[in-house]
Amino acid sequence: MLRVDRVSVRRGGAPLLQEISLTLSSGRTLAVVGESGAGKSTLIGAILGLVPCASGHVTWAAAPVSDCQPALVMQEPRSAFNPRMSLRQSVVEPLAARRQPLDSDRLARLCRGLELSPGLLDQRPSEVSVGQAQRIGILRALIAAPPLVLFDEPLSALDAVTQRQTARLMAELQCEEGFAALIVTHDLGFATAYANEIAVLRTGRIEEVSDAKSFVARPKSAYGRTLRDAAIALGALERVA
Ligand SMILES: Nc1ncnc2c1ncn2[C@@H]1O[C@H](COP(=O)(O)OP(=O)(O)O)[C@@H](O)[C@H]1O
Ligand SMILES: [Mg+2]
Repeated sequence: MLRVDRVSVRRGGAPLLQEISLTLSSGRTLAVVGESGAGKSTLIGAILGLVPCASGHVTWAAAPVSDCQPALVMQEPRSAFNPRMSLRQSVVEPLAARRQPLDSDRLARLCRGLELSPGLLDQRPSEVSVGQAQRIGILRALIAAPPLVLFDEPLSALDAVTQRQTARLMAELQCEEGFAALIVTHDLGFATAYANEIAVLRTGRIEEVSDAKSFVARPKSAYGRTLRDAAIALGALERVA
């Protein structure tokens, strides 16, 4: 289980995250939703130990998170890859880190599900589209079947059809493999369709944590209601009775 326990992050005296507490079990998906600048990417950085916490701590199975070698799908897909390496070399890196052999059936299945033609992996990051790079980032994150995957705006560069298909593949794999997924996104429609639970982040604070279905029907916080109503008005979320 991922446990984020009263984590605060400051930058130059200003609080970026304040007393964040969250838990996430294997096989479950938690979506942290919030507007741009709310602190979502900072939270991922704090969980991975890339951003120092002023107080609080983060554990996976009561040990440091780095012990479980979590995977990260980055917000800026192209900058996630070494420009001098082929995409294939980047994709198999997590296997080398875990001393796992390449399962070519798994690679082929992931490529099919992500609509990536295998030849694409022989190209350099600069030669593929942003949407392709984003899907290759997901491929690299999932190739070694990690127990914890963190997604930072994972589908932002994809069109609606590819988004749905990619989300379906991720859900399928998660069912089979039972990894825990933490997604940070401003897209409430995607978050409520895909996640079990929704945590609402606003300027560094958690306003509420709710079951996804009950969040859509009845947000607990005033700010959660504002976000939900805005998503309904945009057509990004179905109104439920
Ligand atoms: N390197 C940085 N230096 C100073 N402020 C930063 C830096 N990175 C992020 N911030 C600030 O921290 C806050 C949270 O940013 P971020 O975690 O990127 O939000 P989100 O991912 O939700 O858009 C924002 O107000 C942003 O301006
Ligand atoms: Mg961000």
